[in-house]
Amino acid sequence: MNKKIAIIGSGNIGLSLAKGLVKANFAQATDITLTRRNTDHLKSFADVGFNISNNNKQAVADADVIILGVLPQQLNTVLDEIQTSIVQAKHLVISVISGVSCAAVREKLGDKVEVVRVMPNTAIAIGQSMTCIASDNASAENIADVTKMFETVGSVVKINEDLMTSATALCACGIAFFLRAIRAASQGGVEIGFHADEALKMAVQTAKGAADLLLLHGTHPESEIDKVTSPKGCTIAGLNEMEHNGFSSSLIKGIKLSALKAGNLYTKEG
Ligand SMILES: NC(=O)c1ccc[n+]([C@@H]2O[C@H](COP(=O)([O-])OP(=O)(O)OC[C@H]3O[C@@H](n4cnc5c(N)ncnc54)[C@H](OP(=O)(O)O)[C@@H]3O)[C@@H](O)[C@H]2O)c1
Repeated sequence: MNKKIAIIGSGNIGLSLAKGLVKANFAQATDITLTRRNTDHLKSFADVGFNISNNNKQAVADADVIILGVLPQQLNTVLDEIQTSIVQAKHLVISVISGVSCAAVREKLGDKVEVVRVMPNTAIAIGQSMTCIASDNASAENIADVTKMFETVGSVVKINEDLMTSATALCACGIAFFLRAIRAASQGGVEIGFHADEALKMAVQTAKGAADLLLLHGTHPESEIDKVTSPKGCTIAGLNEMEHNGFSSSLIKGIKLSALKAGNLYTKEG
C-alpha cells in the first residue's frame, strides 16, 4: 500500500496489526505512525523504524489511513481531538473499537468521511485473527484495501454492520471460550492420569488438530465427529455425557449473552 497509516491508540490490537502489515510487506514501518499517550511503551517500535507520537492531531494530518485502536470509553476524547485534522475526501477511517457504529464515528468526524468497522481477535498477535469487517459508506476499493490489510494478520469476512456485535461475541470473545474449553479438557486429562503440563500440551494440539481438520477439509464438525464415534464406543459415551450436562447449550447461551453485552460497550462509562 502506498499510503501513510496512523494507528491512534497503539495497544495490543494496534501493535499486532502494525507488525503484521510490515511483516507481510503491506507497508513500510516508516509509513506507519503509532500513537499513545505514554510513548515510552513504543520505544522498541521506534527502534525498528516506526514513527511514534503522542500527538494524535498531527499523526492524523500526516496520514491517509487512520486506524482507531483505543478502548471504547477513550474514543470520544480521541474523536474530539482529531476532528479538525480530518479531511473528509482524503482520510479513510478504520475503527477496531467494539460496539461503535460507523455512523457514530461519522457523527464526530463528518458525514462524508469513509469509515470501515473492523473486529479482529487477539490471535492477531500471531497472524491468526478471525477479522470481520463492515461499512455503510466505504468504496469497494477501500473495502478491498482494508480486507488485504487485515489478511496480513489472519482471515477476513465481510459482514453487514448490524451483525458486528454478534461478530464480537463469536470471534473476539470466542477466543476466550475456546481457551476455556481447552483448559477444561486438560483438567480432565489430569484426572485420568497425566501431569498438568503434558495434559495441556495434549489438549492444545488436539484442539488445533480439530480446527485444522475443518479448515483443511472444509467439512462440517459433525462429519468429523462421525469419524471418531464408533457404535457403543467411548467417544459417543463421553460426548453424550457432555451434552446431557449442557455442553452445546452453555456455549450457545454464553455467546448470546456476550453479544448482548457487546452491544452496550460504547454507552457505558469507564
Ligand atoms: N483485545 C481484543 O480482543 C479486541 C478484539 C477486537 C476489538 N478490540 C477493540 O480494540 C480496541 C483496542 O483494544 P486493545 O486490546 O488493543 O486495547 P489496549 O491494549 O488498551 O490499547 C489501547 C491503547 O490506546 C492508547 N490510548 C488511550 N487513550 C489514548 C489517546 N487519547 N490517544 C492515543 N492513544 C490512547 C493506550 O495507551 P496510553 O494509555 O499510553 O495512551 C493503549 O495503548 C478496543 O476498542 C477494543 O474494543 C479488542
